[in-house]
Amino acid sequence: MSIPAKSPRHVAIIMDGNGRWARKRGRPRLLGHRAGAKRVREIVEACPDNGVEYLTIFAFSTENWKRTQEEVAGLMSLFRRYIEAEAQDLVKEGTRIRFIGDRLRLDAKLQRLMNWVEALTAHNTRVNLTVAINYGGRDEVARATKRLARDVAAGRLDPEEITDETLPRYLDTHVLPDPDLVIRTSGEARISNFLLWQSAYAEYEFVDTLWPDFRRADFEAILARYTGRDRRYGGATA
Ligand code: IPE
Ligand code: IPE
Ligand code: MG
Repeated sequence: MSIPAKSPRHVAIIMDGNGRWARKRGRPRLLGHRAGAKRVREIVEACPDNGVEYLTIFAFSTENWKRTQEEVAGLMSLFRRYIEAEAQDLVKEGTRIRFIGDRLRLDAKLQRLMNWVEALTAHNTRVNLTVAINYGGRDEVARATKRLARDVAAGRLDPEEITDETLPRYLDTHVLPDPDLVIRTSGEARISNFLLWQSAYAEYEFVDTLWPDFRRADFEAILARYTGRDRRYGGATA
């Protein structure tokens, strides 16, 4: 399969619509989350075939704690089981997994699994999968600013050196390129606090498909549309 000339290097996805998918079937929301988790592998596998080096997926926001205790606990246990079940396949497929977000608020067992699977896959280079858990763009900028302020206070950083190039080194995403394309499923046209700084010049695609129905073909159709876009970054039209 040939890789399109202008494929996005980094795609980020707001995986939305699990709850509605379940409701349509008269089933509990958690069933929708489980169905959604099953869709991730196919999209990860489609990445290298399409020239996508980085895939970042939004799994749980800093605002999602507002949901019922039952749904939050179910999601946390789904994340644990996902890591346990997928770890060996990630290794086999050459996927490097990373997590962004404030992991200190997550339970100790989940944090251990996250650290373990990051280390286990650290040498993989085929595709970089980043999962955002307890992630919020504003929270990330606030945490980054705290670390930056500490460096200034300790004399390690001169305030004059703070620029739009040095600041992102303090973000959770400091090792990732900025996303080229952000996709949101489920028909909502908002970004819900996802990658605020990083998406300054991203292209956006909002699609009606609910996340558990999102397949490789839907992903590839979006990638094909991306190749036709003219990214000007403030420059003049050709
Ligand atoms: C996205 O699906 C998954 C999470 C936010 C954890 P939702 O649970 O938001 O599904 P809808 O938006 O209620 O359909
Ligand atoms: C965004 O979806 C967060 C994730 C997909 C994890 P939400 O469903 O939480 O967003 P809102 O509440 O509709 O903005
Ligand atoms: Mg939602």
